[in-house]
Amino acid sequence: MLLTEDMTASGVDPAFRRDILAGLAQSPKATPPIWFYDRRGSELFEAITDLPEYYPTRTETALLERHGADFAASIGPGRAVVEFGAGSARKTPHLLRAIAPAAYVPIDISGDFLHASSAALASAFPGLPVIPLVGDFNGPLALPAAIDGLPRLGFFPGSTIGNMEPDAAVDLLRAMRRLLGDDAMLLIGMDRIKDRDRLIAAYDDKAGVTAAFNLNLVTRINRELGGDMPVDGFAHRAVWNDDKARIEMHLEAVRPLYFQVAGHDFTMDAGETIHTESSHKYGPRDNRLLLRAGSWEPAEAWTDAEGLFSLVLARAG
Ligand code: AVJ
Repeated sequence: MLLTEDMTASGVDPAFRRDILAGLAQSPKATPPIWFYDRRGSELFEAITDLPEYYPTRTETALLERHGADFAASIGPGRAVVEFGAGSARKTPHLLRAIAPAAYVPIDISGDFLHASSAALASAFPGLPVIPLVGDFNGPLALPAAIDGLPRLGFFPGSTIGNMEPDAAVDLLRAMRRLLGDDAMLLIGMDRIKDRDRLIAAYDDKAGVTAAFNLNLVTRINRELGGDMPVDGFAHRAVWNDDKARIEMHLEAVRPLYFQVAGHDFTMDAGETIHTESSHKYGPRDNRLLLRAGSWEPAEAWTDAEGLFSLVLARAG
């Protein structure tokens, strides 16, 4: 059954306007990656997850398929599963099938996408209360009253935590710990540090889907904020920052640019970039340290044979 809590508002999102104007005014220019995910951006991200170069999704999905019996033993039945940034929630059925949860609460910023995927999931799991929540999990959230009193399992797959700077990642983990309660558990996917060329290929694929995903931000800004940014004035760049152990995506001005967004003027020199995303990678000790800093005690971890990606189960610390 699908229980709808709130509906998507229409019109310009004031937070989008504020974030983009502030990000374009600062030096170096940088915009938060949450704004990639309009309808088109969410579709492009889905296409990324099928690319031969983009290993994280298929590796994590294989881990979820393979370790169902381990999840059943370590997590057990009867929990309310709260998924942060659910998107299409394609990985979730493997987890839900393994642990027999009491309810499922997918949280996502993209309402259209969330309601479509929640409806599909609800029909695949008859009898499981599915309660989608439209919202930004980086802000204050209230869980639906329908799961009051149930022990919770936070599910944060996809290495989405990697989008955050370490200090913000710790803040988010602590907020999840507070939101989910004392007897909560957290199952989190974290991408690992690996060969540089492999990492860059995953964020600069041959078919150009990641480039289209990055450039879609320009199209979205033009459409929703009345901008005139020239899409052909930008090139997609993926860079490995070894000091910070992260892939960075940038939109690089291929010529000197002058444009307006929401009535504000901006200029860019040729070669100047807008830093649109960071994707931090964590070694096995790094990921345990990050979880502990965020008030979670790691209990178990599952990693593929190549050591590409880890799923870590932690208990509220
Ligand atoms: C959804 C944030 C995990 O960082 O790998 C994919 C987003 N960006 N290709 C990632 C993304 C470019 C993805 N996360």
